[in-house]
Order: sequence, then C-alpha cells, then structure tokens
Amino acid sequence: MIAIDGPAGAGKSTVAKAVAKRLGLRFLDTGAMYRCLALHCQRHGVTAEQGDDAARLCEGIEIGFGEGEPQRVFLNGEDVTDAIRTPEIGDFASAVSVHSPVRKLMVRQQQAIVAQGNVMLEGRDTTTVIAPEAPVRIYLTASLDERTRRRMHDFASRGIVKDFEELKAEIEERDLRDSTRDDSPLKIGEGVTVIESDGMSVDQVVDRVVALATAAK
Ligand code: DC
Repeated sequence: MIAIDGPAGAGKSTVAKAVAKRLGLRFLDTGAMYRCLALHCQRHGVTAEQGDDAARLCEGIEIGFGEGEPQRVFLNGEDVTDAIRTPEIGDFASAVSVHSPVRKLMVRQQQAIVAQGNVMLEGRDTTTVIAPEAPVRIYLTASLDERTRRRMHDFASRGIVKDFEELKAEIEERDLRDSTRDDSPLKIGEGVTVIESDGMSVDQVVDRVVALATAAK
C-alpha cells in the first residue's frame, strides 16, 4: 500500500495513477469522493457551511470508480466524472471537508476500501489519518508558481481558461483552508517522505515513488 498526500496542484493524481498502473495497485482518489459529496450537497440545496446537514444528506450515497482516463467516477450510479471537476465543486469540496461529521463519513468509506489491500491512495490526509500504517507514505509538493502552472494546464486541457494570478490566489486560499482546518489538516506527518517536484518530470517523480516502494518491500 502506498499513500500520497500534499497540497493542490502538486500532481498527486497524475503520479498516483501512473504508480498504480506500474505496480498493479488499485487507485483510490479520495478527493473525488469529497467532490461527489460536494456535488450531492449542491444539488440538494445544502451549503458547504452546513456540516451536519451535509453528512446526514450524504450518509447513504454510493460513490463508485470505473476504468478509463480520466478514471470514471459514479455518484449513485450516475457518471459524474466531468461534473465534479469544475472549479466550483473543487471549492465546495474544500469548504465542506472542514467539518468533522463529513470527514468521518468519508474516512469510514475510504478505510473500508483500504482494508481490501493493494491500494494506491491519494489525497490530503491519506498519510496521516486514512492509512498512517502504509509502508510507503509520500508528501508530494512543489512551489506555488509551479503548482499554479500545472493547474492552469490541467484546466486548459478541459477547455477552462483561468487567469494565472487569480488561480494562484485561489490555490493559496485552498492551501490555507486545507492546512488550517481543525480536523485532520494537510500537514507533513512524521516519517513521511517529502518530494519537492519543481524541475522534475512526471516520470522522474513516478520513478522515485516506485523506487521507494521497491525498497520498502
Ligand atoms: O484533491 P482534490 O482537489 O480533488 O480535493 C478536493 C478537496 O477535497 C480538497 O480541497 C480538500 C478535500 N479533500 C480532503 O479534505 N481530504 C482528502 N483526502 C482529499 C480531498
């Protein structure tokens, strides 16, 4: 089992997917689960500030993952792969995920998947809360400018045009919220390997993670 943690735009998903493919692990995108929860709340008129209501509303939702690139994501059987990738839902997910009842609900579902073994886990809190026992735990990061460039590129490939400075401010705000929330904030856990990926290609980062996984065996 491998867990990759880190701030927005660090390339966690890209790297985690590639590592999962190389090592034959199942890929668990925990952020996609928070995004599904956010979408469900938005559709049912629950705001990101209403933590208790959000957790109650989403208690029975079924989040599923399929194949493909991008990996298909299902909310109660509906394909929401594109719907959860908008900047608005990203923001909603970040805001609603500060609430403990929401986190409890998601962590319970995530740990049930982890218990099945052979998982490549990706997301903020995977190394500290969801799977602190994972033999390979990585905090993947990069400078704010680099992460903004990557996010811009990512949005552009989906036809979403963003202003650099605006996006940079949004990412900074997201970092601040994710790392200052009371319940399981984004942080570098003890014993976690930090990879600063400025100037590294995706392949180089993937090689590094695979090497760490091989060494841990
Ligand atoms: O990784 P992402 O951008 O898809 O995640 C969206 C938001 O979900 C993120 O800003 C914070 C929240 N999240 C979380 O709190 N814990 C996780 N393990 C993954 C995501």
